Amino acid sequence: MKRDFLTLSDLSPDEHLLLFRRAHELKKNARQRTLEGRSLLLLFEKASTRTRISFEAAIGQLGGTAITLPTADSQIARGETLEDTARVASRYVDAIMFRTHGDERLKAFARAATVPVINGLSDGGHPVQVLADLFTVEEKLGETAGKTIVFIGDCASNMARSYCEAAPIFGFSLRLSAPEGYRPSAAELRGARVTANPTEAVQGADVVVTDVWTSMGQEAEAKARLNALSSYTVDETLVAKAAPHAIVLHCLPAHRGEEITAGVVDGPRSAIFDEAENRLHVQKALLEQLILRR
Ligand code: CP
Ligand code: NVA
Repeated sequence: MKRDFLTLSDLSPDEHLLLFRRAHELKKNARQRTLEGRSLLLLFEKASTRTRISFEAAIGQLGGTAITLPTADSQIARGETLEDTARVASRYVDAIMFRTHGDERLKAFARAATVPVINGLSDGGHPVQVLADLFTVEEKLGETAGKTIVFIGDCASNMARSYCEAAPIFGFSLRLSAPEGYRPSAAELRGARVTANPTEAVQGADVVVTDVWTSMGQEAEAKARLNALSSYTVDETLVAKAAPHAIVLHCLPAHRGEEITAGVVDGPRSAIFDEAENRLHVQKALLEQLILRR
């Protein structure tokens, strides 16, 4: 039976522990060709910098090959079904990463594929990014369990929603700070506390996280979002209210001066570029786990 990674819950807490352990090993010793002769399809319905480069580098370093296909260049753009695409691609490659819009598209694709499918960002979540984030927390602060993470800004974003899913799996407490209308549904909260006041939310936090205010696909709402979220910028004054050892994360791309200031992105608390690097290491471990069924 193939295993997919569409959400963080697709791996058990023990499997997440093993994955992080393996990612640490791979970070120390990058030259391990465990996926010699294997191939990975990267299928994109949205733009990407990090996801494309890190997955291409990941499979390449492990001895395999990446095939990158923006759906706009494929027969999907001319009406071929997702299901037929998934069935055919499964005859050529050992795993498929899919970056798409609705989660129904992702699920339909994964149902039709006969090789593991990885969610490379959907409207509902960005699980590979949150893996990299939590790996970074472990690396910088020793562990994620028991830590307090605060997510500020668009808390209905795919990133915030994957954080809500992650909290009970990784054992951290999650605070969200967003205005009404920019919060996950009550069912998705899974114990996260929500407040409208970012200063209150950030008090003593170990990790401060934010994401863009306008995600891919929401461009038509950009102006309204900028207005609604304007008092949720992660700036130096806000970060100073977190714990003295606190780190700041952002999945990137960042809009300096909107959700986060340049001073914070480029400042001493920022772990943002290590976080970006860690995409490579956790995804190598994930590819091994799914393809070799470790
Ligand atoms: N963080 C992230 O997924 O970046 P890209 O959109 O550049 O892939
Ligand atoms: N929430 C953002 C994340 C980008 C990596 C988006 O979906 O555009």
